[in-house]
Amino acid sequence: MQNKEIIERINKLKKEKNAIILAHTYQNIEIDEVADYTGDSLYLSRMAAKTDADIIVFAGVYFMAETAKILSPEKKVLLPNTKSGCLMADMINLKQLREFKNTHPDIPVVCYINSTAEVKSESDICCTSANAVDVVRALGAKEVLFVPDTHLGTYVGRQLKNVRVITYPGHCPTHDRITPADITEMKQKHPQAKVLAHPECKSEVLELADFVGSTTAIMKHASESRSKSFIIVTEKGVVDRLKRDYPDKEFLPVSDRAICPSMKLNTLDDILNVLENDLNEIHVDSGIAKKAFKTIERMIKL
Ligand code: 13P
Ligand code: SF4
Repeated sequence: MQNKEIIERINKLKKEKNAIILAHTYQNIEIDEVADYTGDSLYLSRMAAKTDADIIVFAGVYFMAETAKILSPEKKVLLPNTKSGCLMADMINLKQLREFKNTHPDIPVVCYINSTAEVKSESDICCTSANAVDVVRALGAKEVLFVPDTHLGTYVGRQLKNVRVITYPGHCPTHDRITPADITEMKQKHPQAKVLAHPECKSEVLELADFVGSTTAIMKHASESRSKSFIIVTEKGVVDRLKRDYPDKEFLPVSDRAICPSMKLNTLDDILNVLENDLNEIHVDSGIAKKAFKTIERMIKL
């Protein structure tokens, strides 16, 4: 079947079944043709919480669909491809979180949204890359435990001089692969270009950036900036969308290696298949979901 026909069938099914499609900015760009909302994790979780659709198809990775289910338990949440996990979220499980907490007792735990429902259920508050600094500041604690992303946690600690952020040693392999040499090489070739980076990158990389922010924040900054050329230091999906949306500006991927293989698993065919046949429904244990809901809700209320 041609993409055009698949898109038409998906759009027809969305109306018939009162479904919406949420797509992360790292998805294959053609998925935007059927997406109702495209954006970063914070934006998409807000959309999942407030939609009155009966079905949410989450074009993203497993923890995102799981978070949507926790926020909207009465809705059917479908994941186009069940293999699309997040390697960083899988770097900490409940046992490891408990050990981490035991080593540092009585310190509040901030969990990045890129984590399992179980990890969320035993954390105090959730955050995304868009609001991590604000969330930790709002806690008002002198020390916090930050899981699972050591790079985002370190970045938060550097922004908040009065808070000691103790990080768990997890990371996103896609962002961790990016090196300071990648940036300096690109800067040598394109000296006018501004460097826009995601806080999942190492601190040595972030130190070389002109702007640090979530995927949506990077896109907003690029659209509003007077500069015409940008080196984009995050997953390639952001570069693809920027090129499409702002054709008069130049967007350069920092490296060919900045691709998240899990994010790229979902296809238009998969979306049609799950929507047509109600497949790959996400279920979360109700006890865990209730506790995880509180952790996410605290963040959303901020
Ligand atoms: P944001 O959506 O918060 O920019 O995070 C990127 C990411 O890695 C999602 O998996
Ligand atoms: Fe997980 Fe990294 Fe992929 Fe985001 S880009 S889904 S953090 S592996």
